[in-house]
Amino acid sequence: MDTAHATQLICHMEELPEDSAIRFLLADCDLIVIHRKGRLYGYRNECPHMNLPLSNRSKGIFDKDQGHLVCIQHAAVFDIENGRCVKGPCLGMELESVNIETNNGKLFLKE
Ligand code: FES
Repeated sequence: MDTAHATQLICHMEELPEDSAIRFLLADCDLIVIHRKGRLYGYRNECPHMNLPLSNRSKGIFDKDQGHLVCIQHAAVFDIENGRCVKGPCLGMELESVNIETNNGKLFLKE
C-alpha cells in the first residue's frame, strides 16, 4: 500500500461480495463500489445528468445481467468498466471514478 497518500477505510471485503454494487457514505465521499468478476470499480455517487446521487441506497443500482449501474432518478445506464453512460439522458458522459485499493482484506479509498 502506498503510504504517501491518505486513505479512508471503505469496508471489509466480506461486505462486498462478488457481483454486488454497494453505496458507501464516508465522511467526505459518497461512493459506489462494484465487485464483479474479481475486479473492483469505484465511482462517486453523482450522476452526470443532473449531479444527483444515482441512489441513496444500494438496492436497484446494479444490473447484474448487463454489468451496468443504473441511476434511479431518470434511468441513465452506465458501463461499470469505464463509468460511461451507454443509455439515457446523459449518453456519453461519465461517472467520476475514485481510487480504491485493497489491503489485508479491507477496501480503502485513496485520496
Ligand atoms: S440524475 Fe441520473 S439520470 Fe437524471
